[in-house]
Amino acid sequence: MADLSVRVAGVAFPNPFLLASGIWGESGESLAAAVRAGAGGVVTKSIGAAPRSGFPNPTVEAYGRWGFLNAMGLPNPGIDEYPKEVEVALGAGAPVVGSIFAGDAPEFARLGERMAGTGVAALELNLSCPHAEGFGTEVGSDPANVERIVRAVVERVRIPVIAKITPNTSDPAALAQAAERGGAAAVSAINTVRALAIDVRLRRPVLAHGLGGLSGPAIKPVGLACVWQIYEKVGIPVIGIGGISSAEDALEYVMAGARALEVGTAVAFDGVGVFGRLVHDLSELLDELGIHRLEDAVGVAHPAKA
Ligand SMILES: Cc1cc2nc3c(=O)[nH]c(=O)nc-3n(C[C@H](O)[C@H](O)[C@H](O)COP(=O)(O)O)c2cc1C
Repeated sequence: MADLSVRVAGVAFPNPFLLASGIWGESGESLAAAVRAGAGGVVTKSIGAAPRSGFPNPTVEAYGRWGFLNAMGLPNPGIDEYPKEVEVALGAGAPVVGSIFAGDAPEFARLGERMAGTGVAALELNLSCPHAEGFGTEVGSDPANVERIVRAVVERVRIPVIAKITPNTSDPAALAQAAERGGAAAVSAINTVRALAIDVRLRRPVLAHGLGGLSGPAIKPVGLACVWQIYEKVGIPVIGIGGISSAEDALEYVMAGARALEVGTAVAFDGVGVFGRLVHDLSELLDELGIHRLEDAVGVAHPAKA
């Protein structure tokens, strides 16, 4: 049986499949359910300094089997309420990554310190939500700002910091390099791809917010390209995200340069049972290909690294 365990940013995960941020609820109980179903770790919903109710409905629209369009508006209970949820999630026994969002470097640093105090194994900075004014992509599209934010958080916490990179940019690798300069222990890519759907009968966008973000199988090639470009430019580990729903998808990301993976829309489509299936199928696929350790396959599709 192939060894699926991976080490990313100093954190050991029993398998590479982590629950992506914002999928499958924000409660500790739902995160714990993902671990019990076989996830190698979980990323929390992005948590901010204060409670937010998010945008009005409709906030999510299925795009057939190809994914979701969403503009949730970062609804969350706020950092004061969140430690008890992390405690429940930690009880399931796998590493928990705390995702946070903020509008500037000082706020990120304060929030990072609070989230680190909950016992999470690492932080993931949401520098990439494509639809919340003042947050996400709006603060994460400029390399200098990414470097400043990452450095501010790294200086305040003792756990690894992961920067989540947007695909809505001409040069995702430049953002990843900026995160590396700021001291990030890893980068994750991608968040959702900016997108729109119009209801022609109502003559207005389907989502109440108008613009949203596309996730799911439709964005897998976009995520793969970003991971590929980032892997060529940084020395820190890359966590691949975007449209992963099968073992082949997972291995594509690993061969493009990802050391771990996050799974979102596939969990929303198929339930947390998807983690057990992915672990089983990836193990079989590696055996079939004669790959004994998943980590041996990281980046092998790059000509210079084969
Ligand atoms: C409904 C929904 C909510 C999301 N909420 C967050 C969030 O709070 N923070 C974040 O960093 N990403 C969020 N994401 C993005 C996912 O974590 C992931 O990056 C993206 O969906 C691509 O992965 P997938 O194709 O496997 O879903 C959200 C995605 C969806 C569909």
